[in-house]
Amino acid sequence: MKPACSYAATHAASLADPAAFWLRQAAHLHWDTPPTRPLSQDAQGFYRWFEGGELNTSFLCLDYHVQHGRGAQPALIYDSPVTNTLRTYTYAELLDMTERFAGGLRAIGVGLGDRVIIYMPNMPEAVVAMLACARIGAVHSVVFGGFAPHELAVRIDDAKPHAIICASGGMEFDRIIPYKPLVDEAVAKATHKPAHVVVCQRDFVTATLQPGRDLDYRKLLQAPPIAALPVPATHPLYILYTSGTTGRPKGVLRDHGGHAVALRFSMEAIYDLAPGEVMFTASDIGWAVGHSYIVYGPLLRGCTTVLYEGKPVRTPDAGAFWRIVAQHRARVMFTAPTAIRAIKKEDPEGRLAHKYELSCLRHLFLAGERCDPATFAWAQQVLGVPVVDHWWQTESGWPMLATLVGLEGMPPPRPGSAGHPVPGYDVQILDEAGEPVTAGTTGLVAVKLPLPPGCFPTLWNDDARFHEAYLATFPGYYLSGDGGYRDSEGYCYIMGRVDDVINVAGHRLSTGEMEEILAAHPAVAECAVLGIADSLRGQVPVGLVVLKDGQTIGEEALEKELVATVRARIGPLACFRTVLVVKRLPKTRSGKILRKTLRQLADGEAFAVPSTIDDPLILDEIRAGLQRRAVGLAYEASHPSQ
Ligand code: COA
Ligand code: AMP
Repeated sequence: MKPACSYAATHAASLADPAAFWLRQAAHLHWDTPPTRPLSQDAQGFYRWFEGGELNTSFLCLDYHVQHGRGAQPALIYDSPVTNTLRTYTYAELLDMTERFAGGLRAIGVGLGDRVIIYMPNMPEAVVAMLACARIGAVHSVVFGGFAPHELAVRIDDAKPHAIICASGGMEFDRIIPYKPLVDEAVAKATHKPAHVVVCQRDFVTATLQPGRDLDYRKLLQAPPIAALPVPATHPLYILYTSGTTGRPKGVLRDHGGHAVALRFSMEAIYDLAPGEVMFTASDIGWAVGHSYIVYGPLLRGCTTVLYEGKPVRTPDAGAFWRIVAQHRARVMFTAPTAIRAIKKEDPEGRLAHKYELSCLRHLFLAGERCDPATFAWAQQVLGVPVVDHWWQTESGWPMLATLVGLEGMPPPRPGSAGHPVPGYDVQILDEAGEPVTAGTTGLVAVKLPLPPGCFPTLWNDDARFHEAYLATFPGYYLSGDGGYRDSEGYCYIMGRVDDVINVAGHRLSTGEMEEILAAHPAVAECAVLGIADSLRGQVPVGLVVLKDGQTIGEEALEKELVATVRARIGPLACFRTVLVVKRLPKTRSGKILRKTLRQLADGEAFAVPSTIDDPLILDEIRAGLQRRAVGLAYEASHPSQ
């Protein structure tokens, strides 16, 4: 039954007395030592939740449910059309694997606070590895499989892991991607050398093991089981790297206590899921969405989670998601708008959805990028259930804006809007001076401190960057990096990043990092990388480069080299495929590249040519170049049949 709580009262209570509000939420969990100080500040003024409390996230996700009669209930359904596997793990089975693998990790020297990098696709052994790290107080850092060895090496050098756990490979559509050679290359590149690489061999690709260093995942699974170690609530649970505005990723840190309290609350209030119900989150465990709503959220709540290894389309068709919902009786589904656009493209009438019995589904949640109203309307019409667009970031780890379907009196979702502030979040729209703007005016989206539990307390090993990147601009606020507005009825709209971060197919990438790579090419004098609107992926990066004097390399040859370099350095997920050689970049007379103008031009938006531009004609040249290369919505608008 729904809690008889109204959204307005709950949100107001969470802001009026955050410590009392969250202490009440914390009481729903099992604590080895109950917290004494719900909210405190450290010497630097950074907020901490539940100091003095001790618990263990792995215990809460597994042992607690087994001890309370859910041992025989499915905890995880592994559905993998790419490997033709379907397997259900009960809570008792998942606990058994986790406590053994935790024993195996400890036997190879992984101790409290040690870091472990996990480089695996969506497979049960990856979830077990995450939970096993949590069990012994080790700190996992999952790296998405689409990242290239260079990116993995950067993360190895930052996290300095005792061990890396990897799969021998992944399966993309019908193509095998061996992972182990990528790990070997990354370890060779990195300065820090992990003591061990633990390899989970898969049927379709066998990795070669380096004697001494490399170990077989399944051998570790045979270790004697060990109990969960109670750790301080503020102890790190994981580091998740995300793109910043430079080539150096940010290590977002998550703690045990605040995270568990926030996610349990969200499962009830935002997603309206009761223990025993099924959640299907179609994301990757390498992203925040995967951490929170494939792994930790559903398990903390005693739900059944579906772990899907496949794509929205072509595995085998655009009905894959609907088949899963029907087969596993999912109550809630969660994915990125890009996935829905991919399905819509292949099955515009939504015929495949009608093949399945979807009456079990209550809501479709979307996040990762703004959901355009057309995609919102299509999904709602095809599925016949409310669609909820909600906004969050790796940094928050759970939604900041949403329609909380588990609370009473919630205004219904509205296309284009990410909803209302979630309890705990005092979301404000500020102008450049840090003053709140009036309704309807676009500004910088910020959250008044303290951030609620679950949000990152700092960046791994970099308090200074945490302060500088998020807190320094407007004292007392967390600056999200997104722009948006609130309408007169309180609905919030997130319109996109205001920094050098773009969103490609729901994946967050740094244009700053791509520019660093392009600028290092010997023929390139200067460059700009833009996120250009794309009807499938939301945005795709496009490079504009100016050649050094005397360089004669052709556009095609240069593009080939730069595309290959970005792919090798960042990875295929960047989808960097287009380079235009231009005579000059449009700049102000003081030398600042007019990025906003370039974006507007590429997206076919009306814009006023800035009075400060040094050479207005360059814009025509770039527009012609984009149209010639058929990129951007400006092109699509002028060629609607393409
Ligand atoms: N391991 C290795 N390579 C990977 C990978 C992984 N885990 N994930 C993606 N890649 C590779 C792909 O093979 C592809 O390589 P290619 O250029 O050689 O073809 C490249 O990265 C781009 O991948 P992607 O953007 O996924 O393109 P796609 O054509 O394979 O699929 C979509 C397109 C729209 C179906 C897909 O992007 C998608 O499902 N998007 C939803 C994203 C999502 O769920 N985001 C989670 C945030 S909530
Ligand atoms: P990530 O940290 O990878 O989850 O990416 C976070 C970024 O994705 C945010 O800063 C937004 O730019 C974007 N984003 C996520 N969800 C939404 C949403 N519902 N609406 C608009 N943008 C979103």
